[in-house]
Amino acid sequence: MIRFESVYFAYEKGKWAVENLNFEIKKGEFVALLGSNGSGKSTIARLTDGLLLPNKGNVFVDGINSKDSPDILKSKVGIVFQNPDDQFVGTTVEEDIAFGLENLNIERKEAHRRVYEITKRLGIFRYLKSSPSMLSGGEKQKVAIAGVLAMQPDYLVLDEVTALLDPVSRKEIFNLVYTIAEENNIGVLYITHISEEVVPVERIILISNGEKIKEGGSEEIFSNYRLLESVGVSVPAIFKVYSFLKRRKPDTSPKELSESTLLNKL
Ligand SMILES: Nc1ncnc2c1ncn2[C@@H]1O[C@H](COP(=O)(O)OP(=O)(O)O)[C@@H](O)[C@H]1O
Ligand SMILES: [Mg+2]
Repeated sequence: MIRFESVYFAYEKGKWAVENLNFEIKKGEFVALLGSNGSGKSTIARLTDGLLLPNKGNVFVDGINSKDSPDILKSKVGIVFQNPDDQFVGTTVEEDIAFGLENLNIERKEAHRRVYEITKRLGIFRYLKSSPSMLSGGEKQKVAIAGVLAMQPDYLVLDEVTALLDPVSRKEIFNLVYTIAEENNIGVLYITHISEEVVPVERIILISNGEKIKEGGSEEIFSNYRLLESVGVSVPAIFKVYSFLKRRKPDTSPKELSESTLLNKL
């Protein structure tokens, strides 16, 4: 389990980037972290694997305090960031994914097997000999995710990995991560500022100015329009239509349910 216990973190004295944060993610659980730009998402990501240490409070991963063993946390938590170009180390996709495994002293044959398996699973096997820089944005993120998954982490933190992608690639990456995490019992923290993306997620943590504002399912999070607006997060279009339909009176005329009226609700 990843456990944040009253965590505070500041880059500069007197200004908390993360303030009194409490939450838990169990193995196999898929949790979303939603917040606008500058709300503290990347800081939280870096706190999960000991890259940053709390000024106050504690972060535990499977009972290990990040202040005691940041290195053990790095082996348990895999993080992928927004810009894949910043994360590549190999000249080919194969080298890039194998690099992390070499660092873990995984023997060659096993490393080979993992690279084969994960690239097949993510649909990037045909790019093994290609340079990562030649790939599309979505494929690059798949390589970055493959590199982290090959290390077989217990938890995966994805920090806005789809922010630079088009909606179709975004959905594809989301679905892939969702099913692979489920198959392998990996706990996921899926970080985004795009509310549409996390509508299917069962537990969403909404943050603003480094503080947790609300935690709950889609309906709990997205039904409070005023709250979302106040923290700079948009209401998913599907939710506006859904709540309109739910609130409608039984005698609503067909005209009121026409496509153009519904579109006006967005
Ligand atoms: N390296 C840094 N040095 C100083 N301040 C930082 C640094 N990184 C982030 N911050 C500040 O911390 C706050 C949270 O930033 P961040 O965690 O990057 O938010 P998000 O990922 O949600 O956009 C912001 O006010 C940001 O300006
Ligand atoms: Mg960020």
